[in-house]
Amino acid sequence: MLIKGGHVVDPNNDRDELLDIRIVNGRIAEIGKYLEVHDNEEIFDATNAYVAPGFIDMHVHLRDPGYPEKETLTTGTHAAIRGGFTSIACMPNTNPTLDSPKLISAISQAFANVIPSEASQDAQSRDRANIYCRIHPIAAITQGRRGETLCDYPALAAAGAVAFSDDGNTIMNARVLRDAALAARDVPGRFISHAEDDHLKGDAVMHEGKVSHDLKLPGSPGVAEDVIVARDLLIAADTRKAWHIAHLSTQRSLEIVAGAKQRGIDVTCEVTPHHLLLTDEAVRELGAKAKVNPPLRTEEDASALRDAVRNGVIDAFATDHAPHTDAEKSGDMRSAAVGFTGLEIAVGAYAQAIPDLPVSLFVALLSANPARILGLQEAGTLSAGALADITIFADRPWRVDPEQFASKGKATPFAGKTLPRKILATIVAGRVVYTCQPQVPTF
Ligand code: DOR
Repeated sequence: MLIKGGHVVDPNNDRDELLDIRIVNGRIAEIGKYLEVHDNEEIFDATNAYVAPGFIDMHVHLRDPGYPEKETLTTGTHAAIRGGFTSIACMPNTNPTLDSPKLISAISQAFANVIPSEASQDAQSRDRANIYCRIHPIAAITQGRRGETLCDYPALAAAGAVAFSDDGNTIMNARVLRDAALAARDVPGRFISHAEDDHLKGDAVMHEGKVSHDLKLPGSPGVAEDVIVARDLLIAADTRKAWHIAHLSTQRSLEIVAGAKQRGIDVTCEVTPHHLLLTDEAVRELGAKAKVNPPLRTEEDASALRDAVRNGVIDAFATDHAPHTDAEKSGDMRSAAVGFTGLEIAVGAYAQAIPDLPVSLFVALLSANPARILGLQEAGTLSAGALADITIFADRPWRVDPEQFASKGKATPFAGKTLPRKILATIVAGRVVYTCQPQVPTF
């Protein structure tokens, strides 16, 4: 296949220009200007579109095993390719928890098993299994995510775990966390913090502030996140374990991470589309559709997050895609499930949040950077010889219609909103696995 006439943005190779890309046997064979068309070559016309290394979402809840009514590997990876993602990392808060090498290897092999080799173009076998993109599992830090007993980190890494986290839960016992970090220090794979102090958070269902007072709902203060970020980075410094902060949501936590980076601590962090774009005011209008952990914060926090994306303190965009059934999300703020779907709105929402962000930085936050954070050797680049995982997108407004989502999770605070950037095609291992419907002009 030849991808022709696109604006190629590949931060790893400092490319930001009109180029053609030739794909042969699932890998990038050639990249250059005005490549000639070979006999029998399929052409993908990328005129007026950006062509980027396949996007990577390093924070996804696939709900498999345990909660097929919320999501499955099939629906989750289908949602991923519709959102432009060619690789996703999935969190271990499943049932059972992803805390054993057997479960980790089942997830990490799910895609590989249906593509016996990268060179294979056996589309049929992949369709049979219906896994649409690469899946990289994140293993638990403690067994059952109970914050007590350490897992076997070398065995989990050998089985395919790309990082470790008790996401959804904070490990409240600092001694357990320090012991875990020491045990895992020389194992590849960062520790990922879910930073919410259980005691400061209490039974909160949203951010503590004017809106929670007005609505008479229990709130969690920003400091509930800040104290855990500070504690975890002290443990990172003490143990020299590489660290990552998930879904960072407060201005103070940003300052702590920026300070740690300056002191040479090996820490990275991510931000979600909803924390960049929305505040706790959204709860007034949307109720449980805006219920998420950590909660939507203040305008000062959201604005500080946007600045931190621009100035490089934030390393990656990540959705925290957290699908739940409609029934679970239809209750009131106190009873509804926490979190919402994110894969299919992400690219549009990031662009909406920071319209002036250079495209090369936008692409880096979604490809080269998460690849580096997770240690994915073959992803995040369009070098000749690399896997042909490619995302094609354009600055074209579209309206969010949750009924069109492939994800089982339909609840999103962005329903009905018009977003400015759209995925046109997703290519995994050289095969176009998603293209958007052609725009039909209306007269
Ligand atoms: O809102 C959230 N939902 N935050 C998390 O950290 C976990 C997630 C879930 O698993 O539903």
